[in-house]
Amino acid sequence: MITVKAYKKVFSEVLKEIFPSTEIDTFFLFLVEEYLGFTRVDLVLKSDFIIEENIKIQFDSDLKRLKNQEPIQYILGKTEFFELPFLVDINTLIPRPETEELVAWIIDEVKILNKKSSNKISLLDIGTGSGCIPISIAKNIDFETISAIDISKKALEVAIKNAEFNQVSISFFEVDILKISNLNLLSKDKTQISFDVIVSNPPYVRELEKSAMNKNVLENEPHQALFVSDENPLIFYEKIADLALQHLSENGLLFFEINQYLGNQTVDMLTNNGFKNIELRKDLFGNDRMIKAAKN
Ligand SMILES: C[S@@+](CC[C@H](N)C(=O)[O-])C[C@H]1O[C@@H](n2cnc3c(N)ncnc32)[C@H](O)[C@@H]1O
Repeated sequence: MITVKAYKKVFSEVLKEIFPSTEIDTFFLFLVEEYLGFTRVDLVLKSDFIIEENIKIQFDSDLKRLKNQEPIQYILGKTEFFELPFLVDINTLIPRPETEELVAWIIDEVKILNKKSSNKISLLDIGTGSGCIPISIAKNIDFETISAIDISKKALEVAIKNAEFNQVSISFFEVDILKISNLNLLSKDKTQISFDVIVSNPPYVRELEKSAMNKNVLENEPHQALFVSDENPLIFYEKIADLALQHLSENGLLFFEINQYLGNQTVDMLTNNGFKNIELRKDLFGNDRMIKAAKN
Protein backbone atom coordinates (compact mmCIF):
# COMPACT_ATOMS: atom_id res chain seq x y z
CA MET A 1 0.00 0.00 0.00
CA ILE A 2 1.38 3.34 -0.98
CA THR A 3 0.06 6.89 -0.86
CA VAL A 4 0.11 9.29 -3.81
CA LYS A 5 2.69 11.41 -2.01
CA ALA A 6 5.01 8.46 -1.39
CA TYR A 7 4.62 7.16 -4.94
CA LYS A 8 5.47 10.57 -6.35
CA LYS A 9 8.75 10.42 -4.45
CA VAL A 10 9.62 7.02 -5.94
CA PHE A 11 8.53 8.24 -9.37
CA SER A 12 10.74 11.34 -9.23
CA GLU A 13 13.69 9.34 -7.93
CA VAL A 14 13.51 6.89 -10.84
CA LEU A 15 13.29 9.62 -13.48
CA LYS A 16 15.48 12.36 -12.06
CA GLU A 17 18.59 11.43 -14.04
CA ILE A 18 16.67 11.55 -17.32
CA PHE A 19 14.19 14.44 -17.13
CA PRO A 20 14.03 17.90 -15.54
CA SER A 21 11.84 18.02 -12.42
CA THR A 22 9.14 20.15 -14.11
CA GLU A 23 8.72 17.50 -16.76
CA ILE A 24 8.57 14.72 -14.15
CA ASP A 25 5.84 16.66 -12.33
CA THR A 26 3.89 16.97 -15.58
CA PHE A 27 4.19 13.24 -16.28
CA PHE A 28 2.98 12.44 -12.78
CA LEU A 29 0.04 14.80 -13.13
CA PHE A 30 -0.93 13.15 -16.44
CA LEU A 31 -0.89 9.72 -14.78
CA VAL A 32 -2.92 10.72 -11.72
CA GLU A 33 -5.40 12.48 -14.01
CA GLU A 34 -5.69 9.35 -16.14
CA TYR A 35 -5.89 6.66 -13.45
CA LEU A 36 -7.24 8.46 -10.38
CA GLY A 37 -9.22 11.28 -11.99
CA PHE A 38 -7.16 13.75 -9.95
CA THR A 39 -6.73 17.42 -10.83
CA ARG A 40 -3.58 19.43 -10.08
CA VAL A 41 -5.29 20.66 -6.88
CA ASP A 42 -6.25 17.11 -5.85
CA LEU A 43 -2.59 16.24 -6.01
CA VAL A 44 -2.03 18.57 -3.06
CA LEU A 45 -5.32 18.07 -1.20
CA LYS A 46 -5.45 14.28 -1.55
CA SER A 47 -1.75 13.48 -1.29
CA ASP A 48 -2.48 10.83 1.38
CA PHE A 49 -4.85 8.96 -0.93
CA ILE A 50 -3.89 5.31 -1.13
CA ILE A 51 -3.21 3.91 -4.60
CA GLU A 52 -4.94 0.52 -5.01
CA GLU A 53 -2.74 -2.38 -6.01
CA ASN A 54 -4.19 -2.80 -9.53
CA ILE A 55 -3.68 0.90 -10.27
CA LYS A 56 -0.18 0.80 -8.82
CA ILE A 57 0.65 -1.96 -11.31
CA GLN A 58 -0.40 0.42 -14.08
CA PHE A 59 1.68 3.25 -12.62
CA ASP A 60 4.70 0.94 -12.32
CA SER A 61 4.36 -0.16 -15.91
CA ASP A 62 4.11 3.43 -17.16
CA LEU A 63 7.05 4.47 -15.02
CA LYS A 64 9.15 1.74 -16.62
CA ARG A 65 8.18 2.95 -20.08
CA LEU A 66 8.99 6.56 -19.18
CA LYS A 67 12.36 5.39 -17.90
CA ASN A 68 12.92 3.85 -21.33
CA GLN A 69 12.12 7.28 -22.76
CA GLU A 70 8.89 6.30 -24.45
CA PRO A 71 6.87 9.44 -25.09
CA ILE A 72 4.10 9.97 -22.52
CA GLN A 73 1.66 10.51 -25.42
CA TYR A 74 2.24 6.96 -26.67
CA ILE A 75 2.04 5.55 -23.14
CA LEU A 76 -1.35 7.16 -22.57
CA GLY A 77 -2.37 6.74 -26.21
CA LYS A 78 -3.53 10.31 -26.50
CA THR A 79 -2.53 13.95 -26.69
CA GLU A 80 -3.96 17.42 -27.17
CA PHE A 81 -3.59 19.48 -30.32
CA PHE A 82 -5.18 22.88 -30.89
CA GLU A 83 -7.06 22.28 -27.61
CA LEU A 84 -8.68 19.15 -29.05
CA PRO A 85 -8.24 15.52 -27.95
CA PHE A 86 -6.34 13.18 -30.29
CA LEU A 87 -5.56 9.48 -30.07
CA VAL A 88 -1.99 8.65 -31.03
CA ASP A 89 0.00 5.46 -31.32
CA ILE A 90 3.35 4.33 -32.68
CA ASN A 91 1.99 4.63 -36.23
CA THR A 92 1.30 8.35 -35.96
CA LEU A 93 3.67 11.21 -35.40
CA ILE A 94 2.96 13.03 -32.13
CA PRO A 95 1.52 16.41 -33.22
CA ARG A 96 3.89 19.29 -32.47
CA PRO A 97 3.23 22.87 -31.24
CA GLU A 98 4.81 24.26 -34.44
CA THR A 99 2.07 22.53 -36.42
CA GLU A 100 -0.54 24.28 -34.26
CA GLU A 101 0.91 27.56 -35.50
CA LEU A 102 0.55 26.42 -39.10
CA VAL A 103 -3.08 25.45 -38.41
CA ALA A 104 -3.77 28.88 -36.86
CA TRP A 105 -2.32 30.57 -39.97
CA ILE A 106 -4.48 28.44 -42.30
CA ILE A 107 -7.63 29.16 -40.28
CA ASP A 108 -6.95 32.92 -40.52
CA GLU A 109 -6.39 32.71 -44.28
CA VAL A 110 -9.46 30.53 -44.87
CA LYS A 111 -11.60 33.04 -42.97
CA ILE A 112 -10.35 35.71 -45.41
CA LEU A 113 -11.14 33.44 -48.40
CA ASN A 114 -14.60 32.70 -46.97
CA LYS A 115 -15.32 36.43 -46.68
CA LYS A 116 -14.30 37.06 -50.30
CA SER A 117 -16.47 34.29 -51.77
CA SER A 118 -19.90 32.85 -51.04
CA ASN A 119 -18.52 29.37 -51.85
CA LYS A 120 -17.16 27.42 -48.94
CA ILE A 121 -13.68 26.02 -49.32
CA SER A 122 -12.36 22.58 -50.14
CA LEU A 123 -9.12 21.52 -48.45
CA LEU A 124 -6.67 18.65 -48.79
CA ASP A 125 -4.07 17.59 -46.21
CA ILE A 126 -1.22 15.45 -47.52
CA GLY A 127 0.52 13.16 -44.99
CA THR A 128 -2.16 13.48 -42.35
CA GLY A 129 -0.80 11.14 -39.63
CA SER A 130 -3.17 11.43 -36.65
CA GLY A 131 -5.37 13.77 -38.71
CA CYS A 132 -4.48 16.66 -36.41
CA ILE A 133 -4.29 19.27 -39.22
CA PRO A 134 -7.57 18.66 -41.08
CA ILE A 135 -9.54 17.88 -37.91
CA SER A 136 -8.49 21.04 -36.07
CA ILE A 137 -9.15 23.12 -39.19
CA ALA A 138 -12.56 21.47 -39.66
CA LYS A 139 -13.51 22.36 -36.08
CA ASN A 140 -12.77 26.03 -36.70
CA ILE A 141 -13.97 27.02 -40.18
CA ASP A 142 -16.90 26.65 -42.57
CA PHE A 143 -15.94 24.27 -45.35
CA GLU A 144 -17.39 22.37 -48.25
CA THR A 145 -15.11 19.33 -48.14
CA ILE A 146 -11.98 18.31 -46.29
CA SER A 147 -9.90 15.38 -47.51
CA ALA A 148 -6.71 13.84 -46.19
CA ILE A 149 -4.13 11.43 -47.54
CA ASP A 150 -1.55 9.18 -45.94
CA ILE A 151 0.56 6.27 -47.12
CA SER A 152 0.10 4.51 -43.78
CA LYS A 153 -3.09 2.46 -43.37
CA LYS A 154 -2.45 2.22 -39.64
CA ALA A 155 -2.07 5.98 -39.26
CA LEU A 156 -5.30 6.44 -41.23
CA GLU A 157 -7.13 4.11 -38.84
CA VAL A 158 -6.14 6.41 -35.99
CA ALA A 159 -7.06 9.53 -38.00
CA ILE A 160 -10.52 8.11 -38.77
CA LYS A 161 -11.12 7.49 -35.05
CA ASN A 162 -9.96 11.02 -34.28
CA ALA A 163 -12.36 12.52 -36.81
CA GLU A 164 -15.23 10.51 -35.30
CA PHE A 165 -14.23 11.43 -31.77
CA ASN A 166 -14.04 15.12 -32.67
CA GLN A 167 -17.26 14.84 -34.69
CA VAL A 168 -16.04 16.16 -38.03
CA SER A 169 -16.59 14.72 -41.46
CA ILE A 170 -13.37 14.16 -43.38
CA SER A 171 -12.64 11.88 -46.35
CA PHE A 172 -9.49 9.85 -45.83
CA PHE A 173 -7.51 8.13 -48.60
CA GLU A 174 -4.63 5.67 -48.49
CA VAL A 175 -2.30 7.01 -51.18
CA ASP A 176 1.44 7.04 -51.78
CA ILE A 177 1.89 10.62 -52.88
CA LEU A 178 5.17 9.84 -54.63
CA LYS A 179 3.53 7.27 -56.88
CA ILE A 180 0.71 9.33 -58.40
CA SER A 181 0.80 11.85 -61.24
CA ASN A 182 -2.40 13.70 -60.26
CA LEU A 183 -5.05 13.80 -57.54
CA ASN A 184 -8.07 12.84 -59.62
CA LEU A 185 -8.29 9.50 -57.82
CA LEU A 186 -9.76 11.53 -54.94
CA SER A 187 -12.79 12.61 -56.98
CA LYS A 188 -15.81 10.30 -57.00
CA ASP A 189 -15.92 9.98 -60.79
CA LYS A 190 -12.13 10.29 -61.20
CA THR A 191 -12.49 13.55 -63.14
CA GLN A 192 -10.53 16.78 -62.58
CA ILE A 193 -10.66 17.70 -58.90
CA SER A 194 -9.67 21.04 -57.38
CA PHE A 195 -8.93 22.35 -53.89
CA ASP A 196 -8.91 25.87 -52.48
CA VAL A 197 -6.28 24.92 -49.93
CA ILE A 198 -3.64 22.21 -50.00
CA VAL A 199 -1.59 21.72 -46.86
CA SER A 200 1.21 19.36 -45.97
CA ASN A 201 3.60 18.64 -43.15
CA PRO A 202 5.52 15.92 -44.98
CA PRO A 203 8.63 14.03 -43.85
CA TYR A 204 11.51 16.52 -43.86
CA VAL A 205 14.28 15.46 -41.48
CA ARG A 206 17.50 14.60 -43.32
CA GLU A 207 19.50 11.53 -42.33
CA LEU A 208 22.37 13.89 -41.45
CA GLU A 209 20.17 15.51 -38.77
CA LYS A 210 19.56 12.17 -36.98
CA SER A 211 22.53 12.58 -34.67
CA ALA A 212 21.07 15.78 -33.23
CA MET A 213 17.70 14.21 -32.48
CA ASN A 214 16.39 13.11 -29.10
CA LYS A 215 16.50 9.38 -28.35
CA ASN A 216 12.79 9.37 -27.53
CA VAL A 217 11.89 10.63 -31.03
CA LEU A 218 14.40 8.44 -32.88
CA GLU A 219 13.49 5.24 -31.09
CA ASN A 220 9.74 5.66 -30.93
CA GLU A 221 8.22 7.80 -33.65
CA PRO A 222 7.57 6.34 -37.13
CA HIS A 223 10.57 6.85 -39.42
CA GLN A 224 8.29 6.92 -42.44
CA ALA A 225 6.78 10.11 -40.99
CA LEU A 226 10.09 11.79 -40.34
CA PHE A 227 12.98 11.08 -42.67
CA VAL A 228 14.09 11.96 -46.15
CA SER A 229 17.41 11.31 -47.86
CA ASP A 230 20.26 13.83 -47.64
CA GLU A 231 20.44 13.84 -51.44
CA ASN A 232 16.79 14.71 -52.08
CA PRO A 233 15.36 16.42 -48.98
CA LEU A 234 12.64 18.30 -50.87
CA ILE A 235 11.29 15.23 -52.62
CA PHE A 236 7.85 15.60 -51.00
CA TYR A 237 7.74 19.39 -51.45
CA GLU A 238 8.54 19.15 -55.16
CA LYS A 239 5.92 16.48 -55.70
CA ILE A 240 3.24 18.34 -53.74
CA ALA A 241 4.07 21.62 -55.52
CA ASP A 242 3.54 19.82 -58.84
CA LEU A 243 0.21 18.37 -57.67
CA ALA A 244 -0.83 21.75 -56.25
CA LEU A 245 -0.21 23.47 -59.59
CA GLN A 246 -2.54 20.96 -61.22
CA HIS A 247 -5.24 20.98 -58.57
CA LEU A 248 -5.38 24.32 -56.75
CA SER A 249 -8.36 26.47 -57.67
CA GLU A 250 -7.92 29.98 -59.12
CA ASN A 251 -7.29 31.71 -55.75
CA GLY A 252 -5.92 28.56 -54.17
CA LEU A 253 -3.27 28.49 -51.46
CA LEU A 254 -0.55 25.99 -50.64
CA PHE A 255 0.75 25.68 -47.07
CA PHE A 256 3.78 23.74 -45.93
CA GLU A 257 5.45 22.99 -42.64
CA ILE A 258 9.16 22.90 -43.49
CA ASN A 259 12.61 21.90 -42.32
CA GLN A 260 14.02 24.95 -40.52
CA TYR A 261 17.34 24.59 -42.37
CA LEU A 262 15.74 24.46 -45.81
CA GLY A 263 13.55 27.58 -45.74
CA ASN A 264 15.25 29.47 -48.55
CA GLN A 265 15.70 26.34 -50.64
CA THR A 266 11.98 25.55 -50.35
CA VAL A 267 11.02 29.13 -51.21
CA ASP A 268 13.32 29.01 -54.29
CA MET A 269 11.77 25.74 -55.42
CA LEU A 270 8.27 27.26 -55.18
CA THR A 271 9.38 30.44 -56.99
CA ASN A 272 10.91 28.37 -59.78
CA ASN A 273 7.62 26.50 -60.09
CA GLY A 274 5.73 29.75 -60.61
CA PHE A 275 4.08 30.17 -57.19
CA LYS A 276 3.26 33.78 -56.19
CA ASN A 277 3.18 35.78 -52.94
CA ILE A 278 5.37 33.26 -51.14
CA GLU A 279 5.63 33.93 -47.42
CA LEU A 280 8.09 32.21 -45.09
CA ARG A 281 7.27 32.35 -41.37
CA LYS A 282 9.14 31.42 -38.22
CA ASP A 283 7.72 29.26 -35.43
CA LEU A 284 7.54 30.13 -31.74
CA PHE A 285 11.14 28.99 -31.33
CA GLY A 286 12.32 31.50 -33.97
CA ASN A 287 13.03 28.87 -36.64
CA ASP A 288 11.89 29.10 -40.28
CA ARG A 289 9.00 26.66 -40.12
CA MET A 290 6.11 27.35 -42.48
CA ILE A 291 5.31 28.66 -45.92
CA LYS A 292 2.25 30.00 -47.67
CA ALA A 293 2.23 30.24 -51.47
CA ALA A 294 -0.47 31.28 -53.92
CA LYS A 295 -1.11 29.70 -57.28
CA ASN A 296 -1.92 33.05 -58.91
C1 LIG B 1 5.70 14.64 -40.54
S1 LIG B 1 4.36 13.48 -40.54
C2 LIG B 1 3.00 14.61 -40.32
C3 LIG B 1 1.82 14.00 -39.63
C4 LIG B 1 0.72 15.02 -39.27
N1 LIG B 1 0.25 15.72 -40.46
C5 LIG B 1 1.24 16.03 -38.25
O1 LIG B 1 1.44 17.19 -38.62
O2 LIG B 1 1.41 15.65 -37.08
C6 LIG B 1 4.31 13.02 -42.24
C7 LIG B 1 3.20 12.04 -42.66
O3 LIG B 1 3.38 11.74 -44.06
C8 LIG B 1 3.08 10.38 -44.28
N2 LIG B 1 3.79 9.95 -45.50
C9 LIG B 1 5.09 9.57 -45.62
N3 LIG B 1 5.36 9.22 -46.88
C10 LIG B 1 4.22 9.39 -47.58
C11 LIG B 1 3.87 9.17 -48.94
N4 LIG B 1 4.74 8.72 -49.82
N5 LIG B 1 2.59 9.43 -49.33
C12 LIG B 1 1.67 9.89 -48.43
N6 LIG B 1 1.95 10.11 -47.12
C13 LIG B 1 3.20 9.86 -46.71
C14 LIG B 1 3.56 9.67 -43.02
O4 LIG B 1 2.92 8.42 -42.88
C15 LIG B 1 3.20 10.70 -41.95
O5 LIG B 1 1.93 10.44 -41.41
